[in-house]
Amino acid sequence: MLIAALLLAVSSAQAFEGDPRQGRIKAETCLGCHAIPSYTNTYPMYHVPKVGGQNEAYIISALLAYRDGQRDHETMHGNAQGLSDQDIADIAAYFSSVGK
Ligand code: HEC
Repeated sequence: MLIAALLLAVSSAQAFEGDPRQGRIKAETCLGCHAIPSYTNTYPMYHVPKVGGQNEAYIISALLAYRDGQRDHETMHGNAQGLSDQDIADIAAYFSSVGK
């Protein structure tokens, strides 16, 4: 059921063509956390996953899940909340193109 919902979310998001140059600009706030190698937040102690070089479809589905509350994480929910489908497509295009 969850997988079906994710696949649906991913395929509908991919109707948007991601633009990595726009994504670089839109990802500015994200880089504060996601661009720091082996970054761990001080409190509570958690590891910030590396998104640079991740699979594009995976980034899209993760952001949709955070935005829609299917994946529960307060910080990332806050970060994904204001993103449109187009923003998510652009950011995913950017992140999947870096770190390779
Ligand atoms: C304050 C720090 C912070 C900021 C800012 C932030 N993130 Fe995150 N992000 C995290 C943490 C911590 C996690 C791990 C959450 C979890 O365990 O689900 C995460 C998880 C993710 C994941 C899932 C990675 C995986 O391997 O599953 C993606 C994709 C992501 N963030 C993208 C973004 C984007 C895009 C932005 C900007 C719009 C952003 N993040 C801003 C801290 C941050």
